[in-house]
Amino acid sequence: MSGGGQTAFDQGSSAFDHSFTGLSGRDQLIHDRGDKQFDLPFVPAPSHVNPGIGPLYNNISCGSCHTSQGSGSPPFAGSAASFESFFLRLSLNSGTDEHGGPLPVPGFGGQLQNQVVYGTKEGDYDVTYTTQTFTYPDGNTAQLRTPIYTIYNTYIPFPANVAVSPRMAPSIFGLGLLENISDSSIIAMANQAQTDTTVIPGHPNYVWDLEKNKMSVGRFGHKCETPTLKQQIAFALNEDIGITTNMMPTENCYGQAQYYNDSLHPEMSDSTLNNLVFYIRTIQVPARRNVTDPTVMRGEQLFKQAKCVGCHRQTIVTDVNVAFPQVSGQTIHPYTDLLLHYLGNGLADNRVVYSAAGNEYRTCPLWGIGLTQVVTGQTSFLHDGRARTFEEAILWHGGEANYSQKFFVNLSKSDRDALIAFLNSL
Ligand code: HEC
Ligand code: HEC
Repeated sequence: MSGGGQTAFDQGSSAFDHSFTGLSGRDQLIHDRGDKQFDLPFVPAPSHVNPGIGPLYNNISCGSCHTSQGSGSPPFAGSAASFESFFLRLSLNSGTDEHGGPLPVPGFGGQLQNQVVYGTKEGDYDVTYTTQTFTYPDGNTAQLRTPIYTIYNTYIPFPANVAVSPRMAPSIFGLGLLENISDSSIIAMANQAQTDTTVIPGHPNYVWDLEKNKMSVGRFGHKCETPTLKQQIAFALNEDIGITTNMMPTENCYGQAQYYNDSLHPEMSDSTLNNLVFYIRTIQVPARRNVTDPTVMRGEQLFKQAKCVGCHRQTIVTDVNVAFPQVSGQTIHPYTDLLLHYLGNGLADNRVVYSAAGNEYRTCPLWGIGLTQVVTGQTSFLHDGRARTFEEAILWHGGEANYSQKFFVNLSKSDRDALIAFLNSL
């Protein structure tokens, strides 16, 4: 029951798209409207249906990046990245804004948009991989690939001193439950390491909350850089698709002089944004499978012994929420602590985001991860999708996860397979 009372019993390609149970008729309608909006392609204005895309953007709809509500994939090596479930975040590599957040790059902002409605896009990017062979003590091997990104064809020269952070789209189910974990629970998980040796110390990110007008605990994005689903989605609309909202009313239009004095009302109404946010907030988590299979049970034991649970927390109880009983007091199994951890410099992007150092990432939730192939038709893991298998993802764990990685590496092949069978049951 990974999502507590909000667990879906579907092992097929729609496993990540079930609405919460217990919604009123009206709330179900809002969920369904948000679901439609999620997959609806945006088009250039003027149009009657879903207008306002761009001028700059990365992709045309939420669903084209979050495939079937699951995670995305990185671009193919060796050809210009086009419509990907992926983008490059940018910032100046020194200094911060007035709230301690990253500083936008003059002429490019906080993200490289490689699509444009008319005229010149900001630029193109490409990836190549270098591959190295990892050899286990038992002689088995695995191939680990390291991505190298190049930005080229920019409409003005690309400045030096820019930090570039590759980001692959994560899955988006169960997030209403994660949003309802209280700040104090997240902070308690961070402090627990002082007294509990099974826990690995991590720390929360503190980020600017646009609605509360103050610093808040961050939860969403690979570096916990937004505090609420609404803010995450308003950002996605603005940066990824080029849609303005009351929350983010300024059009993202570097190099698009025709938009510089554009004072049009927001392209998306508050009610449409609310539908979308409510939809994302009310998607169930798929149930675990094969939980009594002896190999899976052995794998779970090893997952604990390897201290994977020191970061990938098995059980959290969500906060009491009288106004939203569907997420209130749920015992969930997200396999994350929503904290930032250092996994070694091999994964570093060297882009600082508030309190997240350039080599720290949020512990990925692992719930539902075993269904990635079934739902999205591929598997790509870690923030930049460099890992093609669970095995590669684990081998990239270093730093604070060094003990876990070494434990895995020194297991027999059949025990390593058992641990992976456990991940496949999540
Ligand atoms: C161009 C591809 C792209 C598009 C289009 C896109 N996203 Fe995303 N989405 C991403 C990436 C990449 C991330 C990770 C961002 C980060 O690390 O900060 C993300 C993160 C998220 C998250 C946070 C998930 C988590 O686990 O923290 C949510 C929620 C989300 N997107 C919803 C949406 C919605 C709703 C839309 C449509 C308005 C949308 N996205 C459009 C690529 C995309
Ligand atoms: C020190 C904390 C920590 C420990 C210990 C740890 N992990 Fe992770 N794990 C993370 C973080 C942080 C990420 C995200 C890294 C990134 O995005 O580049 C992650 C990502 C992953 C992913 C990729 C998930 C995805 O959706 O892309 C898998 C699989 C995973 N861990 C499995 C394990 C296993 C198995 C173990 C034990 C052998 C383990 N982890 C131990 C922190 C940890």
